[in-house]
Amino acid sequence: MADNKKEIQRRRTFAIISHPDAGKTTLTEKLLLYGGAINLAGSVKGKATARHAVSDWMEIEKERGISVTSSVLQFEYDGYCINILDTPGHQDFSEDTYRTLMAADSAVMVIDASKGVEAQTRKLFKVCVMRKIPIFTFINKMDREANDTFDLLDEIEKELGIATCPMNWPIGSGKAFQGVYDRNDREVSLFSDTQRGTKEGEITKVSINDPKIQEIIGKEAFGKLTDEIELLDGASTPFRLDEVQAGELSPVFFGSALTNFGVQTFLEHFLKMTTAPLPRFADVGVIDPVSEDFSAFVFKIQANMNKAHRDRIAFMRICSGKFDASQEVYHVQGEKKMRLSQPQQLMAQERKVVEEAYAGDIIGVFDPGLFSIGDTFCSPGRKFAYEGIPTFAPEHFARVRQVDTMKRKQFVKGVTQIAQEGAIQIFQELHSGLEEIIVGVVGVLQFDVLKYRLNNEYNVEIIMENLPYEYIRWIENTDIDMDSLTGTSDMKKIQDLKGRPLLLFVNSWSIGMTLDRNKGLILSEFGRS
Ligand code: G4P
Repeated sequence: MADNKKEIQRRRTFAIISHPDAGKTTLTEKLLLYGGAINLAGSVKGKATARHAVSDWMEIEKERGISVTSSVLQFEYDGYCINILDTPGHQDFSEDTYRTLMAADSAVMVIDASKGVEAQTRKLFKVCVMRKIPIFTFINKMDREANDTFDLLDEIEKELGIATCPMNWPIGSGKAFQGVYDRNDREVSLFSDTQRGTKEGEITKVSINDPKIQEIIGKEAFGKLTDEIELLDGASTPFRLDEVQAGELSPVFFGSALTNFGVQTFLEHFLKMTTAPLPRFADVGVIDPVSEDFSAFVFKIQANMNKAHRDRIAFMRICSGKFDASQEVYHVQGEKKMRLSQPQQLMAQERKVVEEAYAGDIIGVFDPGLFSIGDTFCSPGRKFAYEGIPTFAPEHFARVRQVDTMKRKQFVKGVTQIAQEGAIQIFQELHSGLEEIIVGVVGVLQFDVLKYRLNNEYNVEIIMENLPYEYIRWIENTDIDMDSLTGTSDMKKIQDLKGRPLLLFVNSWSIGMTLDRNKGLILSEFGRS
């Protein structure tokens, strides 16, 4: 038990979120570099694989076996055991990206200093807020011309609705970027441009009160810095660790991942402020992570693209205790004791078999087709289920039907199985059957995946017609009369496979109009699974 406690309390499990190109991969590489997990930056994932076109997707996925987009990187730093959850972007963006956030205890939001808050960050941020997990902001690319620093903070506060507290402050940007001022130590860290951003980059620390500082950074930069510090000390939200940990205040760091400016400072502050694995809610109440008993829940299922094997890999987040590969566990939803087979963890680019893992860790296990997203595993003798994982709003919709109507059975089987894995969501017109369905996806690549898999695994050819809807809302009212609900002309009433009513809209304005026209109507962006 004492050993379990020590192992669990040194774990830090977080996701990095950003809009594509803000520098998530580069920052991850640098963090790994500090952990000694890789020798050279640039080896997290080859750009060629990261930037693949849609058409190569199937081949790549087959080669990779397990998608690199599902990586969890584990490394050690200063006594901590760190798990970084990668949230895929680009064409890989899917509901899995959201679900990954359910497995994290905190999130690092990378923002491009010249672009500010961008679409994908906004979406992922909403999920972090829903979970009330701490959010840390890394404003990246300060070595390039950046937006005004105060404007950037203002934008984060207004757009995302979270208070910010700068932990350090940049001195200039672009060619004039000289380093950062640490508000706590009252020290300026000056960086030498390390070009390739290796760990050895020289950092010189000088106190803001040192008489030489003016000379070092220049009179003008010094004047600007002291004015800004005064403004900050007077006007910015004071730092409160409890507010950070409640997800109400985001500590902000400035830096440049590419040239390795400010990454180590960020990592060190972050590790002190973030939490060890957090307690999670189950149907029997809160489960303490530092407990004798093992428990975990499945947050992602990766189908094997090989037609010959219908096996899949289920990724689970360990929430309490220790996982021991030699021991049996209890699969709550399947009501069965079993030994989890081929448990594995990802280390940079490699997969390794694990014998043991602790609360906070993520393991992938072989799924013979019995597990579903949200399933709970616990020590034999215990029986409880973790709160389900919500269904996230798809943003692309298509009407789908099979070409050969004789293949209806395979079609229904295929789409329902793929939906169970969480790659797509299926809906129906109100009062209709499954001959024709409406498929909703978070990322458009999933449409290609659906088409390919139905053809390849179920021998069904489909016709897909894109629909103009971009917004879906779950109706929270239980006593709703769908026929009398009046909305805008572009609104569509649909239902999910459990018969729960939903609404589709072409634009967000229509959502507001519909709410106005139907007093008491409650719409939600997250569905219950
Ligand atoms: P992502 O994972 O968030 O999509 O972003 P990624 O790290 O791949 O970075 C996107 C591009 O931005 C890359 O350039 C990367 O080198 C650059 N970048 C990342 N951090 C910084 C930074 O702090 N400063 C500057 N100036 N650039 C940065 P690329 O040309 O698209 O790729 P590459 O060919 O250089 O690898």
